[in-house]
Amino acid sequence: MEKKNFDCVIGCFWGDEGKGKVIDLISKDYQYVVRSQGGDNAGHTIKIKDKTFKLSILPSGALRNKICLITSGCVINLEKLLNEVLEIEQKSKKKVKVFVSLNTHIILPYHKILDEINEKVSGKNKIGTTLRGIGPSYIDKFGRIGIRIVDLFNDEKILKEKIKNSLILKNIIFKHFNYQEFKVNDIFNYLMGFKDFLLNKTFNNKEMFESILKSNKKCLFEGAQGTMLCIENGTYPYVTSSSPTSLSIPLNSTISHKNIGKIIGITKIYCSRVGNGFMPTIIKPEKIDLKKIKLLGNEFGTVTGREREIGWLDLVILKYSVELNQINMLSLMHLDVFSHLNIIKLCVGYHCNGKILKKYPQNYEDFLKCVPIYKTFKGWNLDISNIKKYQDLPKNCQKIIEYIEKYVNCKIKILSVGAARKKTIYKD
Ligand code: GDP
Ligand code: IMO
Ligand code: MG
Repeated sequence: MEKKNFDCVIGCFWGDEGKGKVIDLISKDYQYVVRSQGGDNAGHTIKIKDKTFKLSILPSGALRNKICLITSGCVINLEKLLNEVLEIEQKSKKKVKVFVSLNTHIILPYHKILDEINEKVSGKNKIGTTLRGIGPSYIDKFGRIGIRIVDLFNDEKILKEKIKNSLILKNIIFKHFNYQEFKVNDIFNYLMGFKDFLLNKTFNNKEMFESILKSNKKCLFEGAQGTMLCIENGTYPYVTSSSPTSLSIPLNSTISHKNIGKIIGITKIYCSRVGNGFMPTIIKPEKIDLKKIKLLGNEFGTVTGREREIGWLDLVILKYSVELNQINMLSLMHLDVFSHLNIIKLCVGYHCNGKILKKYPQNYEDFLKCVPIYKTFKGWNLDISNIKKYQDLPKNCQKIIEYIEKYVNCKIKILSVGAARKKTIYKD
């Protein structure tokens, strides 16, 4: 029997499903919490008593003083990491235990400028990125001109050579768009500024995870973004530059998929999306009070402050996510946000090109033509935010929950009725 020491939390839609809350809740049972893709484009909000924490790159397990790992599938903004570590240490009065894989690529100041230029020149086709330099940093990684953590500890001459090589094309672009060109020495000095911080904080993926398995410790992988923002399987081109699926974890962390046990999918009772890109179930403002929904659900970007678009829960996509990630349990968030609605809709299929579709069409151009088919449910019209047991939830609410489980063929084990830790119901 393979050891199942690795569990993961995956966003089922376009991010912001409430992953931070779930990670914070369950990470008490793990020794390690790991980020394995993305960078500080993530924004995970965690409410503990009267304090709210927002983390972008530091794994949320830091709030429970767990050992936090950032593997080589990530791109890392060291300034951001350092600031988040200092902030948590100041608030918690405890040393944060964070370690970064030697192979992780570093987001450099020029990546953010390239992100900005890319968006500017794309005009109406822009992605609506977080402008954190995520895409340009992954471009350098795959273009084999990236700078990695390990480079900081190698020969200085070699690092300077790598920076020089990476700057050749970029400086031509910066000059063209009237931006200041970057100097090798400035980037070199910038990087050296983090050497002390990183001392004794690095690891090798393979050795780290082998030793975790050997000592029978447990790891929780904290997904960032969501399945539909996956570069391979999402709504391309309106996606991020990494794969936020469970499938990416083995490669990004050098582990075997055989050692993954629980794959916990996170969804809200509705969909949300920020940035550009189509969401078929988007709710028109005249249909329901979207302002109220956004306030109750805190639907404002953690990273950029942008308002998120709201849509009815799309079960076609949820089923796609469950199947793709091999999700074996779901967590249904934000139930409290819909407590005041008289009717609640679930999307159970699409009309597309004169046909009825029950599956997510891979082709984005077809996806654009999808018109949702809804099943309408009666709301429950009752404040559920203090309910602790599944049996005490209104029957209308239970009906919806059980319909979702049946449709996507996966059990919902956690129900969330508020942002705080205690606003949680464990089912079964
Ligand atoms: P993440 O990126 O998936 O971690 O999600 P975000 O933190 O970006 O966004 C989720 C927002 O909803 C945060 O402000 C959370 O504090 C909040 N939240 C999480 N669960 C619930 C819930 O069940 N009900 C309500 N009302 N808010 C929640
Ligand atoms: P969490 O972890 C929501 C979106 C951006 C944009 C697209 C590409 O909080 O769920 P990028 O900067 O990654 O190149 O932007 O992806 N995006 C997110 N949306 N939640 C996130 O993370 C996101 N991370 C990226 O808005 O549409
Ligand atoms: Mg978020």
